[in-house]
Amino acid sequence: MQRKKRVLVTGGAGQLATTLQRTVQSIDESIEFEFANSKDLDITNPEAVTDFFNKGNFDYCVNCAAYTQVDKAEEDSETALLINQQGAKNLAKACHGSNAKLIHISTDFVFDGTQSSPYKETDRPSPLGIYGHSKFKGEQEVVRNMDQYFIIRTSWLYSAYGHNFFKSMLKYGRERDQLSVVFDQVGTPTSAHNLSEVILKIISEEIDNYGIYHFSNEGVASWYDFAAAIFDINHIEVDLKPIRSKEYPTPAERPAYSVMDKEKIKKVLKMDIPHWRESLLAVSEILRKESV
Ligand SMILES: NC(=O)c1ccc[n+]([C@@H]2O[C@H](COP(=O)([O-])OP(=O)(O)OC[C@H]3O[C@@H](n4cnc5c(N)ncnc54)[C@H](OP(=O)(O)O)[C@@H]3O)[C@@H](O)[C@H]2O)c1
Repeated sequence: MQRKKRVLVTGGAGQLATTLQRTVQSIDESIEFEFANSKDLDITNPEAVTDFFNKGNFDYCVNCAAYTQVDKAEEDSETALLINQQGAKNLAKACHGSNAKLIHISTDFVFDGTQSSPYKETDRPSPLGIYGHSKFKGEQEVVRNMDQYFIIRTSWLYSAYGHNFFKSMLKYGRERDQLSVVFDQVGTPTSAHNLSEVILKIISEEIDNYGIYHFSNEGVASWYDFAAAIFDINHIEVDLKPIRSKEYPTPAERPAYSVMDKEKIKKVLKMDIPHWRESLLAVSEILRKESV
């Protein structure tokens, strides 16, 4: 009998890892997953990482562990860099040492948002804040320390699980009569459910076109458009006001435009990507089913 592929998923309690866990339950029995939360495996500890890989005999590692608090990172750059750069380096070295492939998740925040056409994988990163900077450093560590990697940059991730803009809007929309959301930051929401399918496709089809990829849903939206669609699809009545970013100042500056070009991933994986509105409908449905 053929040995099952072994896959380590780090950051096992986070939004993406939880979504991945729910997705794999119904998919491929030829793959064995080990979901490690931050207590099981602290990716900033090089000895713990090496030890985990020595015992685990993994074929793949999906790095969902990250410091994701964009604003807090501005005053805590040390921790952001420790997790997003040093953690990525530890995993890349361990993968290289044990001949495992790494699927490392990164972000549209590596770009400064000054472009007016979708960002390609070959465009030069120039992060605006500490979070984006630490994620870019993490990408560089992966590239420097191994060959068999997929770096997937994604944007505006949301799902039925964990903390995200979609769930916050549902909560605030039900609690408040009026909400203000920025309309001058434009990007693309990404269903973590769709991203999980992409990760599983790479593993189950043993894709070997290693490198950097961009993945989001199709289409373009402002955060205001996204919020309006969340309320519309979920039949929530709220007075939604479009505001400028300068009326809602945050410690970290965010890219004004972070739409990504997905031609590379669509070609390599031979797939179509759903429009963000279609995926929002699907995720709203998943959340509704899970809440009953
Ligand atoms: N969320 C977005 O909008 C978005 C957008 C673009 C890209 N991304 C990227 O997508 C990936 C997944 O994001 P997400 O939304 O799933 O984030 P998340 O919900 O914040 O999950 C991150 C997980 O990482 C874990 N973690 C933190 N430090 C760790 C450490 N030292 N060792 C092991 N685990 C550690 C956290 O565990 P504890 O809670 O126990 O610390 C948490 O469960 C990240 O790489 C993120 O940068 C996210």
